[in-house]
Amino acid sequence: MTELIDNFQRQIRYVRISVTDRCDFRCVYCMSEDMTFLPRAQILTLEEIEQVARAFVELGVEKIRLTGGEPLVRRGIDDLVSRVGALPGLKDFAMTTNGAGLVKHAKALREGGMQRLNISIDSLDPERFRSLTRTGNLEHVIAGIRAARDAGFERIKLNAVVLKGRNDDEVLDLVDFARREGVDISFIEEMPLGDVSDHSREETFYSSDDVHAAIASRYPLLPTTENTLGPSRYFRMPDSDSRIGFISPHSHNFCDTCNRVRVTVEGRLLLCLGNEHSVDLREVLRRYPGDMERLKQRIVEAMPLKPERHHFRTDGDVDIVRFMNMTGG
Ligand code: GTP
Ligand code: 5AD
Ligand code: SF4
Repeated sequence: MTELIDNFQRQIRYVRISVTDRCDFRCVYCMSEDMTFLPRAQILTLEEIEQVARAFVELGVEKIRLTGGEPLVRRGIDDLVSRVGALPGLKDFAMTTNGAGLVKHAKALREGGMQRLNISIDSLDPERFRSLTRTGNLEHVIAGIRAARDAGFERIKLNAVVLKGRNDDEVLDLVDFARREGVDISFIEEMPLGDVSDHSREETFYSSDDVHAAIASRYPLLPTTENTLGPSRYFRMPDSDSRIGFISPHSHNFCDTCNRVRVTVEGRLLLCLGNEHSVDLREVLRRYPGDMERLKQRIVEAMPLKPERHHFRTDGDVDIVRFMNMTGG
């Protein structure tokens, strides 16, 4: 079987597929306040997304994560999940969501074969949560986390982007929340995608090392040897099953073990989050409908374009004009 291997001998086993650029939130680090979204004709249909997922699995990909925007606002998402979940060879199927739609969807996602969920939550204070997400409602997200737990997902992870002066004082409260709810939590350094204009990224940057130190002041953090094939570095606490992860593209680069590519909702195969190298899959999907061999060939031919590492800047300027909601992170 053809496998996906890039010029740096990294094998691609993981694809993140964005199913919509839309979202019911407007998080300050992800979108501008007045985002415009793509017209329907430009985004992949559910059938096209399913074909893309199938092509990757046939090329040796074992893990698929659906992202957005917010994946649960895409009409027909439950059906797409059960179709992708049934692909033979797929071992790990996950979604990253803002959680607000989980009361409605958690059960169907689980029944459709999804194993893991990552849910974003940056604050436990309702007003602060609203100011960070601009439109989000904290209560709905907490109810969503509990609905996911009740639906029996194998693993639930919370994600918090830490911004100095906005929520850095809540790190310990978020850890305690994760412990009480019996879920994992990752703390993320903000990445400079899109010109968000709400805040200066240089001023709000908060390093994972500082988050680590704050947590270690209350709980001993034991390193794990676990390799999730993801960017998180995980730690355990002696008295809890919850794990703590750090995603630190600035302070601890993880590009040399990168195993992933992304597909945007327009069908652009993006070889790295922090670069613009891409190939157009939508063109093949629409010019040769149903031709899986051509689709796979286009994917294989893209591999040499994968750059060695991201080139995110730390000075607050952006090179990447694409907003995070185009790729789901
Ligand atoms: P797993 O891949 O299953 O371990 O989950 P994850 O934590 O990587 O995925 P999630 O969608 O929850 O993303 C959490 C954060 O990690 C987001 O801010 C993503 O943008 C970031 N992230 C995920 N993959 C990459 C990557 O390859 N490069 C960079 N720089 N950031 C990434
Ligand atoms: N930097 C880091 N993480 C981000 N996310 C969204 N935008 C950014 C950014 N600029 C996070 C969300 C979600 C995940 C998909 O990416 O909070 O948890
Ligand atoms: Fe929506 Fe997620 Fe972006 Fe927030 S980070 S606006 S929840 S896509």
